[in-house]
Amino acid sequence: MEKKKVYLDNSATTAVLPEVIKEMSPFWEDIYGNASSFHSFGRASHRALNEAREKTASFFNASADEIIFTGCGTESDNLAIFGIVNAYGKKGHIITTKIEHHAVLHSCQRLEKLGYGVTYLNVDKDGVISLDEFKKALRPDTMLVTIMHANNEVGSIQPIEKISEILKEENRARKDRIYFHSDCVQTAGKLKLDVEKLGVDMLSVSAHKFNGPKGVGFLYVRRATNIEPITYGGHHENGMRPGTENVAYAAAMAKALEIAYRDIEAHEKRVLFLREKLKNGIAERIPKVIINASADKAVSNILNVSFGYIEGEALLLKLDMQGIAASTGSACATGSSEPSHVLSAMGVDPMYAQGALRFSFSRQNTDEEIDYVLKVLPAAVEELRKMSPVWNKTK
Ligand SMILES: Cc1ncc(COP(=O)(O)O)c(C=O)c1O
Repeated sequence: MEKKKVYLDNSATTAVLPEVIKEMSPFWEDIYGNASSFHSFGRASHRALNEAREKTASFFNASADEIIFTGCGTESDNLAIFGIVNAYGKKGHIITTKIEHHAVLHSCQRLEKLGYGVTYLNVDKDGVISLDEFKKALRPDTMLVTIMHANNEVGSIQPIEKISEILKEENRARKDRIYFHSDCVQTAGKLKLDVEKLGVDMLSVSAHKFNGPKGVGFLYVRRATNIEPITYGGHHENGMRPGTENVAYAAAMAKALEIAYRDIEAHEKRVLFLREKLKNGIAERIPKVIINASADKAVSNILNVSFGYIEGEALLLKLDMQGIAASTGSACATGSSEPSHVLSAMGVDPMYAQGALRFSFSRQNTDEEIDYVLKVLPAAVEELRKMSPVWNKTK
């Protein structure tokens, strides 16, 4: 069998598309002025930055002045959480989930250490929270709810619109508003996101998840949200994110969004077809596997499969030797020996949790690539199981 290169780790990051690279090229040698400078060089950069901001906002039904460009999704999450905390001015309570990305989870853990109250909501076996538990978690001193849209390890989608309806009702009776932030890093560019429909006050996005460059993202902040900066310096980004703006990357992110939202439904269908093909192929060929998170409650581009009786890391290595890139979960958690906090929260049996792999697709993946994975994967699983004493005992 001829060895191929197959990239199925698109939730970790994606390739930058040629159109996006082209979009950046004028900014290195031509439009390089500081966007804050008064002269014509600066004005040209400022114009380009404004255009990128307007364009970015338009895909989310937001206004340009509600977009704060940041360096990444992690920074957007930190700005949302610590920004609200800084403005609140007293210790309060935050509601989040047990399955957030570490950008949110570690921020909340830090706040706990500083004396803030944090409720980490449970999830069910499909990785979805309970709205009843959410309602019960609300406290008179709750100031912020931060709940991700789609989970990065299993793809489960949270009921963001329903959460915001509950919060709207709750806020009617309150003097201090509860703000609602959602980490949409895994859904921006994949699903149509409308800040009005979602009802969020803040929303985090990162360009490298949808074929833009690494090192740029944004935080949507609804007008009249009481938020303070978390870094200090100049007046850039309305004083919310000081530092000379990266115009090239802002323009690239806007271009990547434009491309992502072109024919988005057709692309989603294609990616879903690839995922289902791999899922069904695995189920037909390999015994003792579990699919983590139900397909109808998850995004189309993530397939998380647990192969019982083996270590995910070992399988990952075997696949890598055959040119196939997947992941054992979040790229940021790779190298940690801890079991996935997401699978633990979903109640996945540890025997299966340790053998979990995430395959994440993009519109660049092909049918032939999935055929290749389905040829390589069963043999790799079988070889590893042969070395497992636990597996051999089951025979
Ligand atoms: C859900 C989620 N939030 C935040 C991040 C962090 O984004 P970035 O890598 O741009 O800091 C990621 C990246 O994997 C993610 O999947």
